Amino acid sequence: MNAPRLNRREFVAATSIGSLATVAAQAVPARAGVSRSAGKLAARGGTPVRTKGFPGWPIWDKEHDEERVLSVLRSGVWSRSRVVAEFERKYAELLGAKRCLATTNGTHALITSLKSLGIGVGDEVLVGPYTFVASIGVIFLSGALPIMIDTDRETFLVNPEKMEEKITPNTKAILPVHIYGLPANMDRINAIARKHNLMVVEDACQAWLAETDGKKCGTHGNLGCFSFQNSKHLTCGEGGAVLGDDDRVMDLAYSFHNFGRGGPHLGTKCRMAEFQAAILLAQMKRLEEQTQRRWENGTYLTSKLRDIPGIIPHRLYDGVTRAVYHLYPFRYDPREFNGVPRGKFIAALRAEGIACSGGYGRLNKAPFIEDTLSSRDFQRMYSKQQLDHCREQIECPDNDALCNEAVCFSQRLLLGTKEDMDDIANAIEKIYENRDQLA
Ligand SMILES: Cc1ncc(COP(=O)(O)O)c(C=O)c1O
Repeated sequence: MNAPRLNRREFVAATSIGSLATVAAQAVPARAGVSRSAGKLAARGGTPVRTKGFPGWPIWDKEHDEERVLSVLRSGVWSRSRVVAEFERKYAELLGAKRCLATTNGTHALITSLKSLGIGVGDEVLVGPYTFVASIGVIFLSGALPIMIDTDRETFLVNPEKMEEKITPNTKAILPVHIYGLPANMDRINAIARKHNLMVVEDACQAWLAETDGKKCGTHGNLGCFSFQNSKHLTCGEGGAVLGDDDRVMDLAYSFHNFGRGGPHLGTKCRMAEFQAAILLAQMKRLEEQTQRRWENGTYLTSKLRDIPGIIPHRLYDGVTRAVYHLYPFRYDPREFNGVPRGKFIAALRAEGIACSGGYGRLNKAPFIEDTLSSRDFQRMYSKQQLDHCREQIECPDNDALCNEAVCFSQRLLLGTKEDMDDIANAIEKIYENRDQLA
């Protein structure tokens, strides 16, 4: 028998406490979450909204992925060669960049970029703290100082309006991160960079095929960096890439990632292997379709969540033509949930069968920052005044607030169907309607 699907309002009406009698009287056909006890939150022993899982990750098949890997295996050429070169050509073409350099991972893509642009000891790099540790770690590792720019809580992205006040004669570059696959405000950031003669290295490690006005993230700045780690939308386990249009800089990047050979400076080795490129070429076949599905599902989810009191979906900047949702974020306001703290809300949502997390922590306050600033290396490289200037920028009140209010869904959830998005919205609304049970 086909059970009729309820829309969200009907579902919540049917599952909230006050409607149990109606549900029983109408004998609503069996569906996860719709039962006599459906108004009881799963965290309190009720029936979860969802009992089946979401799509798994990564996705591969015999025809594409297995065959390509086996063909590299059989060739006996496993170090960087023609398969990596083919991947570089195709990825540059896909994103609309002149050149691509494949690397061992996204962290090395970022370090290669900073080195190729001549950023190092004595330089300051503007960066937002709402990101993965590597975005800030690479600045220190290149010998430069990260200068924190507070986050825009509405967009989850670095706030360009807070950048100019932090620029000093030592500022050399901006490192905007398209966190969660949400495009940063590159028009504004590039305008600031032009005005102050700064370079721009985009951390697009979570933003494959995200775009603003049709232009892909990673192609707006001087260089753009990507990660292909296991959880990423384009993955080969571990891998990375640098995109750029300037042949001189890309030649330096190539040389740096190959011990410095053929170039003027010392380098290291962070070359991608043929196996990695083989998997990426296979994965690339699915990227556009999967990316579009996440975008459509994310847009649909936003349209459903924005009506629920206390749930504030992220805002996209004007001109964004596609966000790719490595994570889908919203802000949770406990005041609308009778003061139920975020941790309890997250636990309740998980109990309803919806995997979620609280997103990033306060990277601006992470112990590695003071540890690095007070290290022997940095004490030798910088004056106390310069180190203190870096320390003083660590206060980012909007970022601190965001880290307390964010709730995120993994990209896997957005690979599902529209009905899966309904389940997510239904679970949140069920918690809202029954928030008294969490008191
Ligand atoms: C925003 C961001 N930057 C940098 C990185 C580093 O990439 P990788 O893990 O491939 O070194 C990641 C990876 O998670 C990331 O999410």
